Amino acid sequence: MASIDRSDPVILSHVLAEHRDLFHLLLAVRSALAHAGPPTPDRRSTVLESMHHLRDHLADHFAQEEQGGFLEEAVTRVPRLSAAVRSILGQHPGLLADLDRVIENLEASPAAPGAWARAGHNFEAFSARMTAHERSENAVVQSGYNEDLGLTE
Ligand SMILES: [Fe+2]
Ligand SMILES: [Fe+2]
Repeated sequence: MASIDRSDPVILSHVLAEHRDLFHLLLAVRSALAHAGPPTPDRRSTVLESMHHLRDHLADHFAQEEQGGFLEEAVTRVPRLSAAVRSILGQHPGLLADLDRVIENLEASPAAPGAWARAGHNFEAFSARMTAHERSENAVVQSGYNEDLGLTE
C-alpha cells in the first residue's frame, strides 16, 4: 500500500494542474469576450479561436477522465463514491454540447443584434457549470484518497 499512498500527492497535483489549465482557458475566452469595442471580424475570430481551443482541450480532458485514472481509482479505494463518479462523468456530454451551442450560435449569426451579449451570457452559464463540475471532481478525489490514507496509516 505504501507505493499507492506515495502516489497521492502526485495524482492530486496532476488533477489540480489539469483543472488549473482549463480554468485559464475559460478565463482566456472570458477576457476575449469582455474586450471593449464593437464585434469586428478580428474580434470575432479571436473569441472563436479561444473557444475552439477550450473545446479541444475539454474533449481531451473528458476522454482522459473517462478512460480511467484518478476518478476510477478513487472508486476502487472508496466504493461508495461510485454513484458520485457516475454522475460526474455523465455530465461530460452535456457540458460539451453547451459549449458547442455557444460556438455554433456565434458562428451562425455573429452580426445579429444581441449576438455578443448572448454569447457572453451563455458562456458565463457554461463556465459556472464547468467550474462546479471540476469542483466536484476535486472533492471526489480528495475523499477517495484521504479516506484511504486514513485507513492505512
Ligand atoms: Fe470531468
Ligand atoms: Fe476534470
